[in-house]
Amino acid sequence: MTWHIIGAGSMGCLWTAQLLKAGMKATLLVREQRLRSLNIAHNIARPILTVDEWDGATHRYPIKLNSPESLTDSITHLLVCTKAQDAEAAVQSLAGQLSDQCQILLMQNGMGSQQAIARQFCSQTVWAASTTEGAWMKDALHVCHAGSGSTWVGPVDQEPDDSVWQALKGVLEQLPLDIQFTHQIEQKLWDKLAINCAINGLTALYDCRNGELLNSKERQQRLAALTEEVTQVRQSAGVPGSGNLLELVHQVCRDTAMNHSSTCMDARRGRDTELAFINGYLIEQAEKLGVETPANRRLMKALTELNIR
Ligand SMILES: NC(=O)c1ccc[n+]([C@@H]2O[C@H](COP(=O)([O-])OP(=O)(O)OC[C@H]3O[C@@H](n4cnc5c(N)ncnc54)[C@H](OP(=O)(O)O)[C@@H]3O)[C@@H](O)[C@H]2O)c1
Repeated sequence: MTWHIIGAGSMGCLWTAQLLKAGMKATLLVREQRLRSLNIAHNIARPILTVDEWDGATHRYPIKLNSPESLTDSITHLLVCTKAQDAEAAVQSLAGQLSDQCQILLMQNGMGSQQAIARQFCSQTVWAASTTEGAWMKDALHVCHAGSGSTWVGPVDQEPDDSVWQALKGVLEQLPLDIQFTHQIEQKLWDKLAINCAINGLTALYDCRNGELLNSKERQQRLAALTEEVTQVRQSAGVPGSGNLLELVHQVCRDTAMNHSSTCMDARRGRDTELAFINGYLIEQAEKLGVETPANRRLMKALTELNIR
């Protein structure tokens, strides 16, 4: 079995390494221009992927690199490791190569991109993952697996046959990661979305670490207002919640006090953030359900004024 992984960032490199470690074949797909620069930088027929594991070990894997434009293989297993705003275009760039039985596994944070892809690729089986694994790039094709976490995987907007379900489960269970399958992936995505809606945008606004959101009364009030709106939208959408969200958000701020959120880091680097698929998704759902979200709108407006998108 060969996996094709699109997106050679933190998640793409981490998962490619885990697939290779489990003895599977993997081809990492990058844009044509990046393929040329990587080939020049490595100047070798077989580039090396380096992973610094969270336990201190370093592993190196010879890998196969290609680009969607040059690929001629038929894809049976696709892992999509771009940011949410790039996911649909990335899968689209491979549309001609996807077999009808292709299993498409989406690793994106936030919501909306998974549903859009599931609608477009209804001949294939689309799965989404929600993960707490942590990784960052030290250099091109050199990833640091900063924290071991767990990953939930489940089908998006469809219920595959049991044989399809068992086949993918059997494959992913071979990886040296904690992976669990669920029929309620939407609920898992909402759990993460709810926390990200409260924390991520605010950390970009205040350009601060997660723990610093608890530093002042004003910040705590904004956290509470965002959290309250998420709870209302989630309830109106009929998605079961898991306990007191504000308590959970405070707990996450304390547990990850020294961390900068990915949104804060993207904003600092002048990159597009995934907020359109976090607070943006929430606002869109709220509109459909007739729920007011003034705190989320105020946050998005303030970020836009700072040129954070
Ligand atoms: N990193 C983590 O610890 C972590 C944890 C949990 C969840 N996630 C989620 O996982 C997803 C991926 O995150 P990440 O940290 O891996 O992001 P990342 O490091 O920015 O990597 C994304 C990669 O996708 C590539 N890409 C974008 N469009 C492409 C296309 N059309 N064809 C080929 N490559 C394309 C980008 O290439 P260019 O740079 O050339 O644009 C980049 O290398 C995000 O939704 C994130 O929220 C990440």
